[in-house]
Amino acid sequence: MSRAAISRATNEANPERAVRVSRPPANGKDVIATIAPDTAAPGRGKRKAAARQAKAPPIAARMDRHRLYELSVQSVDAEIDFVDETYFDLRGRRAKVLREDFCGTANTSCEWVRRRPSNIAIGVDLDPEVLAWGRGNRVSKLKPAARSRVNLVQHDVMTVKTEPLDVVLAMNFSYWLFMSRERLRDYFCSVREHLAPGGVFFLDCYGGYESCQEIRDKREIKARGPWGKGFTYIWDQSWFDPISSQMVCHIHFKFEDGSKLNRAFSYRWRLWTLPEIREVLAEAGFARSTVYWEGWDEDENEGDGDFQPADVGEADPAWICYVVAEK
Ligand SMILES: C[S@@+](CC[C@H](N)C(=O)[O-])C[C@H]1O[C@@H](n2cnc3c(N)ncnc32)[C@H](O)[C@@H]1O
Repeated sequence: MSRAAISRATNEANPERAVRVSRPPANGKDVIATIAPDTAAPGRGKRKAAARQAKAPPIAARMDRHRLYELSVQSVDAEIDFVDETYFDLRGRRAKVLREDFCGTANTSCEWVRRRPSNIAIGVDLDPEVLAWGRGNRVSKLKPAARSRVNLVQHDVMTVKTEPLDVVLAMNFSYWLFMSRERLRDYFCSVREHLAPGGVFFLDCYGGYESCQEIRDKREIKARGPWGKGFTYIWDQSWFDPISSQMVCHIHFKFEDGSKLNRAFSYRWRLWTLPEIREVLAEAGFARSTVYWEGWDEDENEGDGDFQPADVGEADPAWICYVVAEK
């Protein structure tokens, strides 16, 4: 299995082992998902089940795409571990105020406020639908004291105004929606302005020669839920243009009854390289940026989830790393 087949997603059915997703998604414009029913004929021994299924609507028609997304591509506990420990290593104190840009369901913000009673989170997203889902399914599930320390804001990350921040997150490659250096620099400048002295900006990045191929990658998510024992997550790099370095990617989900949630999420991005990102961070005034590269588990033949500062990486077909930029 290539390093691409690793992910930051923790499989809830197997929580002790962090499973890495192949090339996670990022932000961008979500599209209305289409549902494809199973067209394959059932085997003889499965006639009764097939008859039952014939009456029931396809699983895909009943599924919640945000829940499926979280299970497939997020591992908020591991991510917050990394953020919390790295900030402490760099600054010798704990961060308190965190802003999660492109927050989506605000799962990460909720994890931040669960960690310590002093932690405060601000989640920023443009989309009222996903924010409403986050409020109803994530923020509302927090204990009241923690709930009062999460604030979800519907706004463009480029222009949002917030209090001085210890940490800003731009995860799952969401900032790749900025197509030009100027736009990316404007965003990085805005983040830097909002950071308190000593503040730290965390981003993730992926690359490797598979990242610019028009390919699909599937991964089985073993987690019990209304879908059954699990489902298949499909990361679809459907189009890449080497001249602009722009790409279109989709996430599809497939279920035990064969039904599919096609294009549950779609993204149009620019595939940025690490040198470009670090150059633009420097142009935006960040004092230092460091790449945290993932170690390799020889036994499992996959990434080990341990990200350490590195000056030189490895020529993997698909890798994921963090970039940590200090004000
Ligand atoms: C794939 S989600 C990322 C969710 C989360 N950050 C994660 O790590 O999985 C990307 C989100 O970015 C939001 N978004 C896109 N452009 C934005 C902008 N200019 N300002 C704020 N949010 C934006 C989208 O609405 C979407 O919810």
